[in-house]
Amino acid sequence: MRSSAVPQKAVILVGGEGTRLRPLTNGIPKPMMPVLNRPFLEHTIAYLRQCGIDFTILALSYLPEVIQAHFGDGSKLGVQLAYAVEHSPLGTAGAVKNAERYLDSTFVVLNGDIFTNLDLADMFAFHRRKGAKATIALTYVDNPCAFGVVETDDVGRVRRFVEKPKPDQVPSNWINAGIYILEPETLEHVPADRHYMFENGLFPLLLELGEPVYGYRFRGYWLDMGTPEKYLCLNCDLLSLKEKSALISGLSKDGIYCDGDVTIHPSAQIVGPAIIASRCQIGRKVHIKGPVVMGPGCSIADEASLEEVVLWRGVNIGAGAILKQCVIGDEAEVEARAQLINRVLPPRLS
Ligand code: GTP
Repeated sequence: MRSSAVPQKAVILVGGEGTRLRPLTNGIPKPMMPVLNRPFLEHTIAYLRQCGIDFTILALSYLPEVIQAHFGDGSKLGVQLAYAVEHSPLGTAGAVKNAERYLDSTFVVLNGDIFTNLDLADMFAFHRRKGAKATIALTYVDNPCAFGVVETDDVGRVRRFVEKPKPDQVPSNWINAGIYILEPETLEHVPADRHYMFENGLFPLLLELGEPVYGYRFRGYWLDMGTPEKYLCLNCDLLSLKEKSALISGLSKDGIYCDGDVTIHPSAQIVGPAIIASRCQIGRKVHIKGPVVMGPGCSIADEASLEEVVLWRGVNIGAGAILKQCVIGDEAEVEARAQLINRVLPPRLS
């Protein structure tokens, strides 16, 4: 029997509240934040599908009902979705243990806030070649001090993990990218119904037990969208085609994409790339310089100016306001002539 090129199933960890993204995420789970006007998680599911994985388990702990209501059985995205919901947060490994009933062969685990173009088929071939029980994707960063560093030997076998090393004690610039390939028997070491992490629990334990744990180095695109800066950066990278989303096709470098019922005053100047969703209204002498994403129903009053900005739905920008490198939540209002540089405004809760 031929083995398949990628594992058949993936688990996406959809956990915490996204504390570093507050107050933007107030009341919505971080993976539901819009990226090019589509929930972030849709991009991840489309990536897995493009890699050849069309059965995904969402391991949910924070506001699971919001996610289940949006995604249902996955058929709208052309995949099969299953859910493993936690009563209280079980941690990264505990959340996968909670999904164990679905996991009967080699599987992939993905942190829910990672955007990547990692070649899962190549990682899987590496995992098989090494006879690994667990393979951790490693990405290179210039400053690994805020991350989990993974030290490997010259054939890629993991020697040790160093969590957030001090600058003078950095053993390597390769960090845990939050993407794993695991054999199902590794879950035998994870306690059920208890908070337990991969990073400081299961992986160090597997090393202690002498199990083959490998690090797979890759140099492709990798972004953890856990801060407002990174979230904005992801939108800009995708819109300016520095990176591609498996979910959205047909973008061009300086394209301006307007839904049919958008109203734009003839004196407005728009330099792409820009996405302008349905029912948006753009006033007289407005100046837009992409990358800019506008969600449905936004209104930009006369002479306002936007550059590198993501607006969620129903945002009102007052006349003459200037916004640069901002993220503005649902229904938020920006006063006339306000100047916002590098700012985040939370959604206005109804
Ligand atoms: P948050 O900002 O709180 O989401 O976590 P983080 O970005 O600091 O990441 P962390 O390293 O704690 O977790 C890595 C991934 O696992 C993120 O996608 C988290 O949402 C997810 N995660 C963390 N804890 C849990 C949990 O208890 N249950 C589930 N299902 N997922 C979790």
